Amino acid sequence: MNDYTPTREDKFSFGLWTVGWEGVDVFGSAVREPLAPADAVHKLSELGAYGVTFHDNDVFPFEATAAERAEHIAAFRKALDATGMIVPMATTNLFGHPIFKDGAFTANDRAVRRFAIRKVLDNIDLAAELGAKIYVCWGGREGAESGAAKDIRAALDRMKEAYDILGQYVLDQGYDIRFAVEPKPNEPRGDILLPTIGHALAFINELEHPEMVGLNPEVGHEEMAGVNFAHGIAQALWHGKLFHVDLNGQHGPRFDQDLRFGAGNLRGAFWTVDTLENAGYDGPRHFDFKPPRTEDMAGVWESARGCMRNYLILREKSKAFRADPRVREALAASKLNELTRPTLAAGETYTTLREEDWGDADIEALANRGMGFERLDQLAMDHLLGVAK
Ligand code: GCO
Ligand code: MN
Ligand code: MN
Repeated sequence: MNDYTPTREDKFSFGLWTVGWEGVDVFGSAVREPLAPADAVHKLSELGAYGVTFHDNDVFPFEATAAERAEHIAAFRKALDATGMIVPMATTNLFGHPIFKDGAFTANDRAVRRFAIRKVLDNIDLAAELGAKIYVCWGGREGAESGAAKDIRAALDRMKEAYDILGQYVLDQGYDIRFAVEPKPNEPRGDILLPTIGHALAFINELEHPEMVGLNPEVGHEEMAGVNFAHGIAQALWHGKLFHVDLNGQHGPRFDQDLRFGAGNLRGAFWTVDTLENAGYDGPRHFDFKPPRTEDMAGVWESARGCMRNYLILREKSKAFRADPRVREALAASKLNELTRPTLAAGETYTTLREEDWGDADIEALANRGMGFERLDQLAMDHLLGVAK
């Protein structure tokens, strides 16, 4: 029987900032001690993850001197070497320091924008050194609380300028790195630029090197916007743009909960796994969650273990659902097979389409036909709830 123990082949990765979160929030101070990156690497490796991801300042402090920076990186590297853990993705902290209070790439103050781009360039070198193939850009501070505070069109020009500079840098260095934009509707800013998968997809088309830029959608962020995450990543895959994914849990539109994967919207999590497993995604299954402040370190590791365990359980359920003969029959009855057929036959045109003879009886029959989706969905529920026989 499957005990849902993860292996490296499952490609589970965690941000250092997830298990390392000390619990500082807007209402309270730290509840846990700092966790050294090297310790996080060892423990996550032991739990079955294959990789860790980091912001520059998860590994070394903002104020670190060059020598201190090197020391911190060496300790992190040593843990990676000792465990065989990889770094599939890296990113920049462009939100923690007060300098970024009005944004980074789109701060009104030009000096801040110049500082931000340099900070990213420096960390791209480190990302390349550590073998990261994906560079995430989450613009948590890019936005505004009030209408006149940000000229959105000018800010998008500056956002494009930043991505174009960074893309050119990666090309010039010959790094094997692609960028992934992480959308979020709000928090910490009142309204954040590129708030959803759809906004980000459209933005990418305006870049100098759109082929180098894709998405890192996060479950909770799309659900904060009230949209369907599985649909969102399916569309990103359709565009060839699902470069990375942040898995976690969320209870509908409210503050960013960053619960462990599977908590919150469990049905949504089922369809998320079903989509990732069946629609051609083969990148890391990356968890970006925050172990609640109620937990001590034992609870933190329990929470990390739970993310992977829930993914594996849902993967097994999705497989069983797809393999169930009743589901196949229900899918056919609901005409899912027909949806994959082009609406016009080969050689047909709108003219031949208009020539087709439609009787009232045909229209009535189609109008009266039930789609059978409730039966199909109940089969999914039975599988999800463990009662499908
Ligand atoms: C959030 C975000 C962040 C980013 C991370 C990468 O919860 O608001 O997910 O966690 O993913 O900081 O830059
Ligand atoms: Mn989040
Ligand atoms: Mn995230």
